[in-house]
Amino acid sequence: MIVDIQGVRDSALARLAAATTSDEVRAIELAVLGKRGALTDLKTALGKLATIDEKKAAGSALNEATVAVGDALAARLGELRHAERELQLEVERIDLTEILQRPTRGHAHVVTQAWQRLEDVFVGLGFQVAEGPEVETDWHNFEALNMPPNHPARSMHDTFYVEHGAPGSTVLRTHTSPVQIRVMLNTPPPIYMVMPGRVFRNETTDATHLAVFHQIEGLVIDRGITLADLAGTVESFTKSFFGSEFSSRLRPSYFPFTEPSAEFDIRTPAGNWLELGGCGMVHPNVLTAVGLDPEEWSGFAFGFGIDRMAKERHGIGDVREMFTNDIRFLEQF
Ligand code: DAH
Repeated sequence: MIVDIQGVRDSALARLAAATTSDEVRAIELAVLGKRGALTDLKTALGKLATIDEKKAAGSALNEATVAVGDALAARLGELRHAERELQLEVERIDLTEILQRPTRGHAHVVTQAWQRLEDVFVGLGFQVAEGPEVETDWHNFEALNMPPNHPARSMHDTFYVEHGAPGSTVLRTHTSPVQIRVMLNTPPPIYMVMPGRVFRNETTDATHLAVFHQIEGLVIDRGITLADLAGTVESFTKSFFGSEFSSRLRPSYFPFTEPSAEFDIRTPAGNWLELGGCGMVHPNVLTAVGLDPEEWSGFAFGFGIDRMAKERHGIGDVREMFTNDIRFLEQF
């Protein structure tokens, strides 16, 4: 019997030493010390021994084996648990070094850059900057700008209507000119203001047209303002923005909200003329609509496309490229 006990003990210790997982250790525990375990069975067999001396000797061998296996079991389980925990931590570790190794830094969108440069140049000329809402009333977008319902000039603006209020009373602004109206309603003159923003037209896009684009509006209202002030401002702007080798001209045109009206062109050093935008003296009807006396106040306004400026400045062939959000394209500017 003692030989059996020592055999069970030695094989258990050998198996424990060779065990590589805590599950394996628990299986050995069950097989040796569990209810049907080898040492447990031997303990039951103890009663069948013939003499007291035999029982004593076998009993103490059994105790010694149980303690030895129990100690070895606890020690091996501790070791393996520790190793397993280390392994789990290693597996679950989140590797942040990849992000640290590849810092990529973005920059402002090419149109945002043009927008900001335009603001800077006008602030340098003494203008303030204002913005207005993209969803506008028909009154601000058209009527107060001397375009009553059915005015033929309305058809030049392919308008997106918004389902809000009375049918046709709410629009996505088709230009930044309604911000002029808001500025004049809110600010007593003198006014020297530029108003950049996003505008919307319901038209098919192509290489030079977008349905969603950007304009910058200018407005000056003061006493004794004349067309010469407008021409001088356009010229100063041209030289500040494009460079002293550029110049400008005004060409007679028509807009409902200005009288007289003009388009302004920029002359490049190579001698090409580039159409930039519209301008003119603020129409007396517009001043009256916002409660200003045309006998006391006069002024000029202008408006042009920001996307166009970015396109010309960087020689971009197709304006749609600027808004496909392809990083390989945008990274270049
Ligand atoms: N609002 C005009 C457009 O979108 C541009 C414009 C022309 C603005 C003349 C003005 C102006 O302020 O005086 O086509």
